[in-house]
Amino acid sequence: MTVVESPEPRGEDRAYLDFVLGLKQYFAHQLYPALHEQYMAGASLDELPAYPVFQWVERNAQKMMWRRLDALIRPQAMELEAALDKPIAQPLGKLELDPDLRLPEYYAETEFHIQPGGVWSGALNAFVYEVGAKIVMLGQNDDYLFHRLFVEAAIPKRPYRAILDMACGFGKSTRPFVDAFPEADVVGIDLSAPNLKLAHQQAERLGKRITFSQRAAEASGYPDASFDLVTATMFIHEVPMPVLRRVFSEALRLLRPGGLLAILDFAHTGDAFRDQVMDGHGARNNEPYMPHLFRTDVCRLLEEVGYANPSMLPFDERGGGVRADGTWPERSEWHFPWVVIRADKAA
Ligand SMILES: C[S@@+](CC[C@H](N)C(=O)[O-])C[C@H]1O[C@@H](n2cnc3c(N)ncnc32)[C@H](O)[C@@H]1O
Repeated sequence: MTVVESPEPRGEDRAYLDFVLGLKQYFAHQLYPALHEQYMAGASLDELPAYPVFQWVERNAQKMMWRRLDALIRPQAMELEAALDKPIAQPLGKLELDPDLRLPEYYAETEFHIQPGGVWSGALNAFVYEVGAKIVMLGQNDDYLFHRLFVEAAIPKRPYRAILDMACGFGKSTRPFVDAFPEADVVGIDLSAPNLKLAHQQAERLGKRITFSQRAAEASGYPDASFDLVTATMFIHEVPMPVLRRVFSEALRLLRPGGLLAILDFAHTGDAFRDQVMDGHGARNNEPYMPHLFRTDVCRLLEEVGYANPSMLPFDERGGGVRADGTWPERSEWHFPWVVIRADKAA
């Protein structure tokens, strides 16, 4: 079988990226707690002398990472692009690309995560994104642990026949659904053709039967009531709020009666310092809609759209899973404030 793997950084590249990872860990584990302490002592964010340094480190560590990954991957462009496009003999799943799909402006005009060219504008961008995703998670998600934990801890065990992962990226959020629900038809959709190609190649290499299809989450084109479970990981903070309403409506249309919407994303925690820093993260990391999501009453929006029993619970990605009592874990370091959002389509 012809499949493709992302290049593994070695030698000087590895050392450089380890340095970037160290910088990100310094930012999260040293700078952030120190600033938090000063803030709690009464200073406002703008008065903290080290806050500009904190912001600089966050943005520039990210830029350094993308630049180095691009330099690592670009020399292998021809082989990688060719391998992505090589058909797989007797694939378990499918890859459906739509060359006529018009990318929405909010997506095409934003280089999310400051990744040059975004995740869609060239075949290599998917590889750059894949290798970078591990570093972005501070080296704590190399084996995509929290994606698996989300499925194990936040998705009720039911006999799902069909599962849709909206905005599936290169498939790391989709694959755990195949492991947990092997009888289900699992489908991942995304706007990025390179991501979907990489997702398909990797799923086949791992022996997972998944259909990957190039579609917009807010207008998927699937028939009504096609799925029992619609899910999305790290997606809803990337769309403008009017689009989020359309995404929720589309998911409701696609769900069968009694079906479930289950989302893993970020939220404000109620800690004023953490929340302001997280808003700033949205700006520094080119995720312009993130602060809007934090100011949206997501459960109310879900109800307005027509869902029943919406809930939003903190999620501890270090192993604790969903925090049913609604409290945030005590943490002094900077981290992504994960939240699980669930809602039902009435039976
Ligand atoms: C941060 S990534 C998350 C990918 C994956 N769910 C994961 O957990 O690794 C966000 C993904 O959303 C996709 N995306 C953004 N807007 C979209 C839309 N309107 N419809 C479908 N996919 C979208 C992007 O192409 C990107 O792959």
